Amino acid sequence: MFDVDTIRRDFPILGREVNGKPLVYLDSGATAQKPECVIQCVERIYRECNANIHRGVHHLSDEATRMYEAARDMVCEFIGAAHREEVIFTAGATASLNTVAYAWGEKFLSKGDNIIISEMEHHSNIVPWQLIAERKGVEIRVLEFDDEGALKTDMLDHLLDDRTRMVAVTQASNTLGTRPDLRCIIQKAHAAGALVTVDGCQGVVHGGVNVAELDCDFYAFSGHKLYGPTGTGVLYGKREILEQMPPFLCGGDMVDRVSFAKTTYAPLPLKFEAGTANYVDTITLGEAVRYLNNLDLAAVEQHEAELTRYAEELLSEVEGLRIYGTTPEKCSIVSFNVEGVHHYDVGMILDKLGVAIRTGQHCAEPVMTHYGITGMCRASFAMYNTRTDVEALVAGVQRAVRMLR
Ligand code: ALA
Repeated sequence: MFDVDTIRRDFPILGREVNGKPLVYLDSGATAQKPECVIQCVERIYRECNANIHRGVHHLSDEATRMYEAARDMVCEFIGAAHREEVIFTAGATASLNTVAYAWGEKFLSKGDNIIISEMEHHSNIVPWQLIAERKGVEIRVLEFDDEGALKTDMLDHLLDDRTRMVAVTQASNTLGTRPDLRCIIQKAHAAGALVTVDGCQGVVHGGVNVAELDCDFYAFSGHKLYGPTGTGVLYGKREILEQMPPFLCGGDMVDRVSFAKTTYAPLPLKFEAGTANYVDTITLGEAVRYLNNLDLAAVEQHEAELTRYAEELLSEVEGLRIYGTTPEKCSIVSFNVEGVHHYDVGMILDKLGVAIRTGQHCAEPVMTHYGITGMCRASFAMYNTRTDVEALVAGVQRAVRMLR
């Protein structure tokens, strides 16, 4: 049974006050709060078994290496990868997506090719592609969404052609909450001979993924949104593709033999893990996955969906309020603006009431451009939020509107 009060007790920060009010944290889309076991894991490693991994014959190094590789096994199972060497640890989704764009793009893109990017992408699934496209003389094509926030998947029928090499798309939009029909997109892309890179930052948290079943070619996410530490992330790639790619960052741990005449590289996954890994936090990401594995994730998802519906229901009673992203089955993100009131001012007033939301462009400026606005308010719900949190949000918005209009 899912019990939100029990869950909340696992997250110590939820007990604090902000501006003399109990914290109402509705910014988990930006970063999730951490359960006690994750917080303690970081401390335990530094206190008891800190040593550099993959390098020492001594006991501590061996212990840390085994813990790091155990985290890889946990993540591999959690995302349904077929092979553990398909799981590359990175500093976050941004690093993962830059690795694909740079290393895969360097080898497989040529002048005259094209890449399709959805209009609702986070900047980290746009800008790396633009940079490689500029270097290689590649065209960027945009897969648009409609005003409800639904991706116009049918557009793929004329966007895809025999020079399309990659389709970059999110599993769940960080502004609109939309979950595009990835199966359909991947099927169409593959039929045209293109690969698909999925930004799983929000999707892996809300509903999870099975990358092998989904059949995406690359999948990226950050650990800190998945209740794990900052500075951690994952790049999943199909083994046969990763094997053909050159390394991205180079240095220690990613090599086989080094000489001035010729250097050869380590096998996967280490080929893409140059330098001293962020092993303390990555081991702790494994702890976050262990925490999640002990929960009924279907019940968590249902709880978040109920909160989202409740928030939409109450917010829609606020005069002049527009919600952006109204597709069915959206994830637990509610973005909105109130007519005549600036999103930043709403965020500031909510903060005075202890309610944390995100305001602005949410690193997705093309979404703002689509609606002709400069930014939005965004409430994002996680497993530890409650109906009382939703009510505090809506009361705060009402108050902000009364003050600002
Ligand atoms: N990408 C994060 C967000 O959506 C930071 O807020």
